[in-house]
Amino acid sequence: MQFISIQEALKKNKGTVEVRGWIKRKREISDTVFVLLRDSTTEMQCVIEKEKIGEVWKELQHTGIESSIELKGELKEDKRAPNGLELRVNELKIIGISDKFPISRDLSEEFLLDVRHLWLRSSKMTALNKIRSTILFAVREYYQKEGWFEVSPAIITPNACEGETTLFGFDYFGEKRYLSQSAQMYLEVMIFSLEKVWGLTPSFRAEKSKTARHLTEYWHLEGEAAWMDMHEMMNEIEKLVEFVCHRVAEKNAKELLSLGRKPEEIKAIKAPFKRISYDEALKKLEKEFNKKIKWGIDLSIKEEKKLGEKEKTPFFIYGYPTAIKAFYAKEMPEDSNKCFSFDLIAPEGFGEVCTGGQREDVIENMVEKLKKEKLPLKNYEWYLDLRRYGSVPHSGFGLGIERIMRWICKQESIKDTIPFPRTMNRSYP
Ligand code: 4AD
Ligand code: MG
Repeated sequence: MQFISIQEALKKNKGTVEVRGWIKRKREISDTVFVLLRDSTTEMQCVIEKEKIGEVWKELQHTGIESSIELKGELKEDKRAPNGLELRVNELKIIGISDKFPISRDLSEEFLLDVRHLWLRSSKMTALNKIRSTILFAVREYYQKEGWFEVSPAIITPNACEGETTLFGFDYFGEKRYLSQSAQMYLEVMIFSLEKVWGLTPSFRAEKSKTARHLTEYWHLEGEAAWMDMHEMMNEIEKLVEFVCHRVAEKNAKELLSLGRKPEEIKAIKAPFKRISYDEALKKLEKEFNKKIKWGIDLSIKEEKKLGEKEKTPFFIYGYPTAIKAFYAKEMPEDSNKCFSFDLIAPEGFGEVCTGGQREDVIENMVEKLKKEKLPLKNYEWYLDLRRYGSVPHSGFGLGIERIMRWICKQESIKDTIPFPRTMNRSYP
């Protein structure tokens, strides 16, 4: 005999099988114990009768939920079982006893974060982590197919990419260094040899804000491509997002449903996405929501929510004021107050999931911008070299995996989209 997964056992439908996993629920009625067994694939009801299993019966009495066990038995149809099939157990082996599992009554957010290492076994977290895995694989699949190169940027960096206020700095053998906020600048390096590159790396932000959308450590999908302008980059992103959504809808319909998201809603995501300029967004906010925003002010989550509330598909806002975007954003030649920068906003009020744009490729402009931002030129010399030696027009983007998951999986808190969330007051376990 050989162990098979519960899913394979359910497919087999009848005969003798051997399965193993953890006890999710246990109920005893006279000399029979009903166990709901779970493994990474799914769950199955198992019926254990005292007279069949001999000596182990006693041990089973002290075996609480989350104990790990191996079972051999006969598959039998049973209308009362959750999937219409149950395992009539002939042999039982207890592998790892679990006395009293700490998660029972207290399901408060803080407690579940304290015992995250155990809560990750729950069906909710399992569904989320399966979807996460699908998303990460789909990204690779997509870029393989499209001929982009995956690259591995540095995480320890001398530069601020996204402003100095959210930098995690540390002493690096006597020099000040930072944890990367974005791999963008390194991806820009790589386009001079590989032209179209992407990377998936952890990014770090010393965010003091406690919101449902911010982590201090998150997984950042970033891309950069030579010869592309802002609109061409948006074309790339919408195709990627469509592809990822379709993969999730195909592979994880069951998980989506369990999280309260209808798979059809994700299956329906289709490029091209709507594109509105920053100016149009302001007009829309005033006309439809009676909300007047002064030109030049950044859109907050409140405005993003309003604009996206009734949308079913993500949409772009582009052409933001230069003053509110990072030093590397390229100004529009016809109006230097605006730049070639965009955000991708998720529908249903989930807000920004991605930022990108065309980069400044003229060295004099870049030097001026760095000076204006009071960034130490010395640390950016290497970055300026990219504009010194064969500069090309190029664009890129950064998309937060947890942000897109939050929308796809319809989750209130970003913390549930990553196994070990890091926030201002949480770095354990
Ligand atoms: O908008 P951001 O700051 O843009 C950049 O970092 C660019 N350099 C990216 C690039 O062009 N290569 O961050 C990009 C995305 C955001 O849209 C959001 O999805 C995510 O990263 N993000 C966060 N996710 C979770 N927690 C945080 N604190 C995040 N900050 C940004
Ligand atoms: Mg942004």
